[in-house]
Amino acid sequence: MRRTVHAKPSAPGTRRPVRAWLGLALLCLGAASAAAQQVAPPGIPADRFPKPLRPVASIISNQWSSEDTRERVGEAGRVMQLLGIQPGMAVADIGAGSGYYTVRLSQRVGPAGRVFAEDIMPDYLAGLRRRVAAKGLGNVTVALGEAHDPRLPPASVDVALLVHMYHEIDQPFGLLANLLPALRPGGRVAILDADRATSQHGTPPALLECELRAVGYRQVAFHPLEGGAVYLAVFTPPTQPPAPASIVPCRDQGSR
Ligand SMILES: C[S@@+](CC[C@H](N)C(=O)[O-])C[C@H]1O[C@@H](n2cnc3c(N)ncnc32)[C@H](O)[C@@H]1O
Repeated sequence: MRRTVHAKPSAPGTRRPVRAWLGLALLCLGAASAAAQQVAPPGIPADRFPKPLRPVASIISNQWSSEDTRERVGEAGRVMQLLGIQPGMAVADIGAGSGYYTVRLSQRVGPAGRVFAEDIMPDYLAGLRRRVAAKGLGNVTVALGEAHDPRLPPASVDVALLVHMYHEIDQPFGLLANLLPALRPGGRVAILDADRATSQHGTPPALLECELRAVGYRQVAFHPLEGGAVYLAVFTPPTQPPAPASIVPCRDQGSR
């Protein structure tokens, strides 16, 4: 037998709190749907890896510079051309920020490809998720990572692209090691950074090469950009992941 339950009329003064709670619940729901998610299980814990022996720059912005400025010099187009990014490829934009590369990679790899837009800042990812939804980019997965672990699915990525963010990675050895299982056979890691001290939001190329070599990566290409102020370095991964305890951090003579 169905029972009809009649709601009690609200006593004067109780209506507003109920509305406030309802508003709060809706707000939370909105925030939850915009919240970034981890798309893969955790890798090796952070405390197993050594820390870098040089300054790590603070996270201060979700973009390197304005998209107009970057488009004027055709930055993303040039980088995608140098890396041979093709329709159907899967690319991870690690440290995606506001998504300058995410949007352009999405267009380049097309419906048969995939872009993992990964970052560690939930606020940045919430904004990026809204941007991706507004543009209807169905081939983009927005993913929350950790400073030592990009948390990407196994064998999901042809190219991992790290743009103007390497110097901000608190745990570069952990991130590079935990990235390995996500790389497909033939996968590459491409790092774009300014040629200056890590404390000045760049990475000297020799330091970068040393830190990647410490995890077993091999540099296979180096492209000076913007008259040498910036560079794109490309690496292939080791066949065997290194034991975290065997990683020896590099000394950087140039960083202050
Ligand atoms: C200067 S912004 C660059 C954003 C974008 N790649 C660009 O070129 O405009 C650096 C980004 O790297 C992110 N980041 C810093 N450390 C990170 C880490 N360990 N893993 C993933 N992202 C990180 C920051 O949250 C920030 O969004």
